[in-house]
Amino acid sequence: MRRLNGKNDTFSNTGIEDLYQKPTHRSSNQTQARINGLQIIISAPGYECEEDDEPHDEHPDENQPFDLSSLFQQQMPKPYAKQSTGTNNKGPKKSENFEVVMKSPVSFKDVGGYTNVKKELEQCVDILKNHTKYAKYNVRIPKGLILEGPPGTGKTLLAKALAGEANTAFISVSGSQFQEMYVGVGSARVRELFELAKKNVPCIIFIDEIDALGRKRSSEKESSGAERDNTLNELLVSLDGFKNTTGVFLVGATNRADLLDPALLRPGRVDKRVYIGMPDEPTRREILKIHSKGKPNDGSVAFDDLVEMTAGFSGAQMENLLNEALLFALRENREAYSQKDIELIMNRILVGWQPMEHKFSDAIIDHIVIHEMGHAVLACVAKHHTKMRKVVINLNAPTSPGYTVFEAKEENIHTRESLFEHLIILLGGRIAEEIFYGESVSTGALNDFEEAHKLAEKMIVYYGMGSNLIYPSKSEKYKEKIDNEINDLLLSAHAYAEFILDHFRELIREGADILVRDRILLVDDLNELITRKYSDVLKTVNYELANNFADI
Ligand SMILES: Nc1ncnc2c1ncn2[C@@H]1O[C@H](COP(=O)(O)OP(=O)(O)OP(=O)(O)O)[C@@H](O)[C@H]1O
Ligand SMILES: [Mg+2]
Repeated sequence: MRRLNGKNDTFSNTGIEDLYQKPTHRSSNQTQARINGLQIIISAPGYECEEDDEPHDEHPDENQPFDLSSLFQQQMPKPYAKQSTGTNNKGPKKSENFEVVMKSPVSFKDVGGYTNVKKELEQCVDILKNHTKYAKYNVRIPKGLILEGPPGTGKTLLAKALAGEANTAFISVSGSQFQEMYVGVGSARVRELFELAKKNVPCIIFIDEIDALGRKRSSEKESSGAERDNTLNELLVSLDGFKNTTGVFLVGATNRADLLDPALLRPGRVDKRVYIGMPDEPTRREILKIHSKGKPNDGSVAFDDLVEMTAGFSGAQMENLLNEALLFALRENREAYSQKDIELIMNRILVGWQPMEHKFSDAIIDHIVIHEMGHAVLACVAKHHTKMRKVVINLNAPTSPGYTVFEAKEENIHTRESLFEHLIILLGGRIAEEIFYGESVSTGALNDFEEAHKLAEKMIVYYGMGSNLIYPSKSEKYKEKIDNEINDLLLSAHAYAEFILDHFRELIREGADILVRDRILLVDDLNELITRKYSDVLKTVNYELANNFADI
């Protein structure tokens, strides 16, 4: 779900997901943005990459100090275990730093949806369960897999479920456990980990946040990463060192698979990569079913609405929503949560919450509601843009006293028309203020402008939507031309938005009054108002737009 804020008007999503849709993208301030839809395009340039791009040595041990034990391990794989099926309970269950869980209590049925991912993992389950079966064939068995995707999408849960399904031992570690100040500790831990796994085959080694351990090795110029490089080298050696039929399987989870060293991901090591994206509708339904179990609601909550409202949420956010809603109800001595509780918690998740309402003067509140109505009216008139859901005035939100919420779109490819409409919606808040207050505008459009400028630049430079399909990125010669095109695009979006809003002055005033009174305006109510009182205006506007504006 996305929102356009009144004060800090940013068109942002709630999840972290977008950030991860394009593996090369890296921008920390978008961690909150994350969900799908336009924001993906808007905030995921896919061009920046601060990481060192130099080709890396595919031979892991070349830079490594001579290490007799790893050599031994590499060249002389021990007959680690009797090739038994089922959980082998004979090995020690603990080493100095790691612990083996013999039976993971989680199974695939605890993971909602993601049917295709589960299907993909089923073969891994089979490999682990019947690892002797595969030894008969001349087939190379994957040694592991990487689960990648945005936070909270159930990667850790899936890894545990994989161990539960396969009924294997499970060692869960975090990539950061291998980061130590002392030289050699990281690689010793990797050896210790694999030794322990081998004694407990079949065994899944689960390395959460594997990017902390498996990052691309540093270039020759950097010396700081030497210890980390050694640890990674040791991991690569250990992966090469165990025969793939021995029943040790590595599962890594990360939000940033693009940071991983190619040598780790190359075929023959961890060659399966499974992307766990934000849940689609059927998956959300399943996840909500799982988490609404045992949480009574008072009957006012329509399950279908819940599925729709949570578009763009990760599994963890959905779990959090239901949990917080029930906690809130219990705090008020009610035994079941209601639709109102859900709405309340939803708003908190979207824009944060502070215990006290901001104190604004009536004049500023009027600026805020007029501003929001500017966004909302344009969103209602738009034909290609994702649909708006509601406008909310929430003085408890620390940075966004007003915001417009949009439905989340699952696809992340957008047409020029929808991007142009996004531009006009972004500019609409300020334009409405100008129409009503002339020069006395507020600072509320700050983020709108930033967002609009970024989008316009992307449209011209990156999406080939300007007069040049491709602009040579480093050429000074084109800089001025690009600036002019961005400016022209923003000006035409401004003119377009102003034309529409000017016709709907009365609607804006009426909607703003509702917002001051009710603090919320739902899209159905706004549409009903337009149909009842402003359908003639709408017809005129549509006619004029079709004849006088060539941009859409
Ligand atoms: N598909 C799902 N079905 C049921 N619950 C889920 C699902 N996805 C996430 N959850 C809920 O979200 C919680 C967090 O999920 P998990 O820790 O697996 O996320 P993650 O992808 O590993 O996140 P991170 O990248 O931040 O480590 C789970 O404990 C569970 O309650
Ligand atoms: Mg995790």
